[in-house]
Amino acid sequence: STGLPDVKERTLIAVKPDGVQRRFIGQIIQRFEQRGFKLVGLKMLQASEDLLSQHYSELRTKPFYPRLLKYMSSGPVVVMVWEGHKVVQTSRTMVGHTNPAEALAGTIRGDFSFHVSRNVIHASDSEEGAQREIQLWFKGRELLNWDCCDQSLTL
Ligand code: PPS
Repeated sequence: STGLPDVKERTLIAVKPDGVQRRFIGQIIQRFEQRGFKLVGLKMLQASEDLLSQHYSELRTKPFYPRLLKYMSSGPVVVMVWEGHKVVQTSRTMVGHTNPAEALAGTIRGDFSFHVSRNVIHASDSEEGAQREIQLWFKGRELLNWDCCDQSLTL
């Protein structure tokens, strides 16, 4: 370790089909930008059930799994990679509790959703999970290293 803060941590964020339908893409991007994180990958696609079954492989035995795949493949999603110091943990805080009924006001789910089956956004739950999900959704050349003019972001 260099002793310097890791500003290169990355996480995968996805605006789910309900978030796209309800026109929340802009507001969600705005929250990550204003927090100071750097967008290094962005695309819109309708995910295949094959891709989603890999993304949600740990949930295969859950009762809600078939409905989750149907919902997530029902329309376009916007997937993004955000970069910055402790971005995985901070994003989870910004997104709020998985169950919107327990999500605090001020969080994305707390402000935009009321039920777990339509909770608007996905955020990776660990650094290892983030690396796995980023590799699954993005090719290396789709992730861009660019310099922020705001030098304060480099810590
Ligand atoms: S669990 O049971 O602890 O593994 O579940 P959890 O970590 O809370 O959630 C994992 C993802 O499953 C989604 N989820 C649901 N989708 C649809 N219906 C129901 N009932 C449901 N319960 C949980 C939840 O939103 C998580 O998805 P992501 O995309 O990671 O937010």
